[in-house]
Amino acid sequence: MSAIILSSSSTDLARRIRLATAKDLLVIRPEQLPAVPAQVMAIANGSGPMTTLVIDPDEGGEKYAFDLARRFEKEHPDVSVLLVTDRAKELGLSALRSGMRDLIEETASVEDIRLTLDRAERARAAAFQSEKAGPREGADSVPARVVTVASPKGGVGKTTLATNIAVGLAQQSSQEVVLVDLDIQFGDVAAALNLEPQATLADVVHGPALTDSMTLKAMLTRHETGLHVLCGAKSPAEADGMTPAHVGQILTHLAAQFRYVVIDTAPGLSEQTLAALDHTTDLVVVTSQDVPGVRGLRKELELLDALDLAPATRHVVLNFSDKSGGLSVRDVEKTIKRKVDLALPRHKKVVRSTNQGVPLVLHGGRDRVVKELQNLASWFVPVTVRHDGGLARHGKER
Ligand SMILES: Nc1ncnc2c1ncn2[C@@H]1O[C@H](COP(=O)(O)OP(=O)(O)O)[C@@H](O)[C@H]1O
Ligand SMILES: [Mg+2]
Repeated sequence: MSAIILSSSSTDLARRIRLATAKDLLVIRPEQLPAVPAQVMAIANGSGPMTTLVIDPDEGGEKYAFDLARRFEKEHPDVSVLLVTDRAKELGLSALRSGMRDLIEETASVEDIRLTLDRAERARAAAFQSEKAGPREGADSVPARVVTVASPKGGVGKTTLATNIAVGLAQQSSQEVVLVDLDIQFGDVAAALNLEPQATLADVVHGPALTDSMTLKAMLTRHETGLHVLCGAKSPAEADGMTPAHVGQILTHLAAQFRYVVIDTAPGLSEQTLAALDHTTDLVVVTSQDVPGVRGLRKELELLDALDLAPATRHVVLNFSDKSGGLSVRDVEKTIKRKVDLALPRHKKVVRSTNQGVPLVLHGGRDRVVKELQNLASWFVPVTVRHDGGLARHGKER
């Protein structure tokens, strides 16, 4: 059986589409929609080939949808991408130009949806015929998920998030995970994980590991969870001479060998961070809930839009979340023109876990902050969607 993937937060739309088609319908939330076609297709693994992607973007998510449609048209013309919108007049032309096969009105009836899906299916079949080779070579291998944690400012929780995401992934996923400390001068991942590295980023850059993946892998430090870690240089001076090209080489090797690469960065957009962003599939940006932090984040997001970087799924985390400062989550969303995906409260356990070198995801317990951090790692694990529309995840193999 073939499958349709719907990215939407509307259960009513999911219901109407389910009634309109005999195919399997897999539903994910908009923030879970990957930016890379092969990763979207991996969601349908187990349900037969994916024929159609229906994107119902959240407010402001249209550009992301268009970029994805463009990539599908180029890399997987055998998949139809459809846009759900209530602004068909305004967006229709640019949607079709971006590679969307059709539009579905937000309030469309089951019958209208059925007609649109049929039309898209015929167009797809035609495109597939002319594209005799079918999907491009290598389309079956799912590229590594490269998760980069960044923020304009320091002290907002990047290292906390990166270490918890990496350890969380190592716990949840049977596939291999590597964490890279790209805070070149003041990296503190080793301390946050209580590791004593034999080799660091500085040794990699100044030795044969840069051109040899096996040597590189041998220089990684193992954490008790099985996580591999490339720790930062021991002193700022040692890190001298680390160029963006080095970063590119290291990440290319790691992405070829690991299923997940998690990257912690220095504050701001250093040239090393920009080089990492060029390999990133998932960008997690963090800010504290105060005016200077949120403004800085808005500027960083604007700059990232202006730069011609590889498309990445973006996730926004508001750390030290607390509305008593007079700034609500809604205010933050208005300023940065994006949804906040996670508001993480301040909690004394976080500081304690940093000081002990044991990420909070390993503590367990019922605190909200622990639960949120555990959930955060699962953002990056491919979603399998239950037939009742609920979400499940590929967990550790039992
Ligand atoms: N939600 C939180 N509640 C309490 N303390 C936190 C929280 N998030 C981070 N911290 C603490 O703030 C400090 C800075 O965090 P860190 O992750 O090192 O930030 P960055 O890497 O952005 O500089 C650490 O001591 C960390 O334990
Ligand atoms: Mg840090």
